[in-house]
Amino acid sequence: MMVEDEGLEETTESSNLDDPISDEPNDSLIGGEKTSADYYFDSYSHFGIHEEMLKDTVRTKTYQNVIYQNIFLFRNKVVLDVGAGTGILSLFCAKAGAKHVYAVECSRMADMAKEIVEANGFSNVITVLKGKVEEIVLPVAQVDIIISEWMGYFLLFENMLATVLYARDKWLINDGIVLPDRASLFLTAIEDAEYKEDKIEFWNNVYGFDMLCIKKQSMMEPLVDTVDQNQIVTNCQLLKTMDISKMASGDASFTAPFKLVAERNDYIHALVAYFDVSFTKCHKLTGFSTGPRSRATHWKQTVLYLEDVLTIGEGEAVVGSMTVAPNKKNPRDVDIMLKYSLNGEHCQVSRTQQYKMR
Ligand SMILES: C[S@@+](CC[C@H](N)C(=O)[O-])C[C@H]1O[C@@H](n2cnc3c(N)ncnc32)[C@H](O)[C@@H]1O
Repeated sequence: MMVEDEGLEETTESSNLDDPISDEPNDSLIGGEKTSADYYFDSYSHFGIHEEMLKDTVRTKTYQNVIYQNIFLFRNKVVLDVGAGTGILSLFCAKAGAKHVYAVECSRMADMAKEIVEANGFSNVITVLKGKVEEIVLPVAQVDIIISEWMGYFLLFENMLATVLYARDKWLINDGIVLPDRASLFLTAIEDAEYKEDKIEFWNNVYGFDMLCIKKQSMMEPLVDTVDQNQIVTNCQLLKTMDISKMASGDASFTAPFKLVAERNDYIHALVAYFDVSFTKCHKLTGFSTGPRSRATHWKQTVLYLEDVLTIGEGEAVVGSMTVAPNKKNPRDVDIMLKYSLNGEHCQVSRTQQYKMR
């Protein structure tokens, strides 16, 4: 989900970065940069962000279908909902016959979740725990199922996956299940002259002034936006698949090679990343894609503009690698290094670009 700064007060007082549910401001902001970690938990306290997620029917209905159409997985099982928000996934699980659901939520939305659980008559089945998954004391030693909607833009922005893996290693029984249990990141290339002109080249000449220093920054920030499938010039390449039930948190840092072969003669202005998630333990394989050829979700796609405009002929390929890692200083941010080259008839390019999702 998007990290928004709406409603966050500018702060100049004492610190409380480690206590997401405190109202205290964070002194790391004094005269310094605000980080996504600073904004993160506070953004989830407001109902607006939950409204957007709930209204993303591709997302929410997939979880609902997974739960309601696979009651055999949930009946009499103890479930942990990691990052429960409004408690929607916990409510689905309770309705599907779970023995007990622990709904852990660290933002102030936990108070609403408690009220929602009560209002819907599930207080005997769902226990809402307000706090960070990494800090709460769970009333049981083990759970049968961990369910979570942890995916961020570019899959890994927000780094909530680390929290799910922490919960898995601490509480999940040996043959327990994690939902979803598979996530894959993909890459493709697009023609995007008009938007690149508007978003990037704009800074070349702003009312007659050179603002190239901002252009450099705008190039480095991947753009979260909806891509029209007609803009796609090449194949879509799988970069990485993660098995959430087995992976280590270090596996979220990786370098993946790619080869994007042009399906027509065109120009390439950007590479586009998107992800799929699936629930492989269901009776019938279920999941959704956030790709440009699928129904739109609130994750949209992530566009990485290239320094060069690549003139590519059908059958020619952009080859390279993408390196992805959480930012060392702010692990909720993601650092991306893109190496690409094209050795085509009309265009020979080889370049490395750095990006930062923040
Ligand atoms: C993407 S939202 C999903 C909310 C809800 N499960 C849903 O599907 O609508 C993720 C939620 O996890 C919470 N969260 C993130 N990290 C957490 C942590 N370490 N401990 C507890 N809650 C966390 C956030 O505050 C946010 O409400």
